[in-house]
Amino acid sequence: MQNLDETTVTQAVIDQMATTPDPRLREVMAAAVRHLHAFAREVNLTPAEWLTGISFMTEVGKACTASRQETILLSDVLGLSAMVNALHDKTRLEKATDTSLLGPFYREVSPAHALGDSIVAKPDSPEIVFYGQVCDLGGRGIPHARVEVWQTDEHGFYDMQMYGDEKMDMRGTFVCDADGNFHFRTVKPLGYYIPMDGPVGGLVRAQGRQGCRPAHIHFLITAGGYRELVTSLYQGDDQYIDSDVVFGVSSSLIIQAKPDPGSPFPGLDAIHYDFSLARAAAAGEARVGADPSKLVKAE
Ligand code: BEZ
Ligand code: FE
Repeated sequence: MQNLDETTVTQAVIDQMATTPDPRLREVMAAAVRHLHAFAREVNLTPAEWLTGISFMTEVGKACTASRQETILLSDVLGLSAMVNALHDKTRLEKATDTSLLGPFYREVSPAHALGDSIVAKPDSPEIVFYGQVCDLGGRGIPHARVEVWQTDEHGFYDMQMYGDEKMDMRGTFVCDADGNFHFRTVKPLGYYIPMDGPVGGLVRAQGRQGCRPAHIHFLITAGGYRELVTSLYQGDDQYIDSDVVFGVSSSLIIQAKPDPGSPFPGLDAIHYDFSLARAAAAGEARVGADPSKLVKAE
């Protein structure tokens, strides 16, 4: 293992790592080294570029806090989160409602609400009602399924961006009725820039990308015996519906609020959307994403 050059160093590293007892760690790291080295060879990576990358990754790590996950944001804008999501979906037992990214603004605990409540403390725009049913793949309502919802306000901000850890708004947890039905009031969210004031935003700007997500409402739906559903519903008339900077939109997830005399609040514009859950393949299946506060060590 001497006199290595750009054609032989890759195998030398993989050979040395062959002692890794955990077979999955061995497989993942061997592939990572192969692809990383191939990337460096392909672009003929210079010392200055290598250092720029090192300093970029250092800044990404430093930008992470209990309420901000810059590393997940990097994964998002590179499409890696969408890729892992798609791979995870392939392990579903059956095709249910399409999934979408959890994103960095999820909180594991959000205010408990009664059906029909508003998730908005002080609406600045007309309320809308959101209603639907959580069903199995046979169309049967799943009793008492748990529906967690979070979104931006009508100005395009999540509570975490405005209040940090101080206060929760525009989010809540509902328990469906015995037939799997739920409804709540909210306002139309606004599309928003991903956080652009950090290293990931700098990269997105340097690439001439627009940096916006189309307006959407996030859902995390759980019920015993079913795979949890992490998804978002996207407002069809948003100008960024076809250029989401984090690649989360599916056509089956596009919605539009409209007058609906059959809704639980017939005077309000409504969105009606029914969700279907796949049966769980195994207990405690993994989630693609996390509450950012769970990913940083307490200081
Ligand atoms: C979001 O949906 O909130 C989100 C997802 C990825 C990056 C930034 C925001
Ligand atoms: Fe979001």
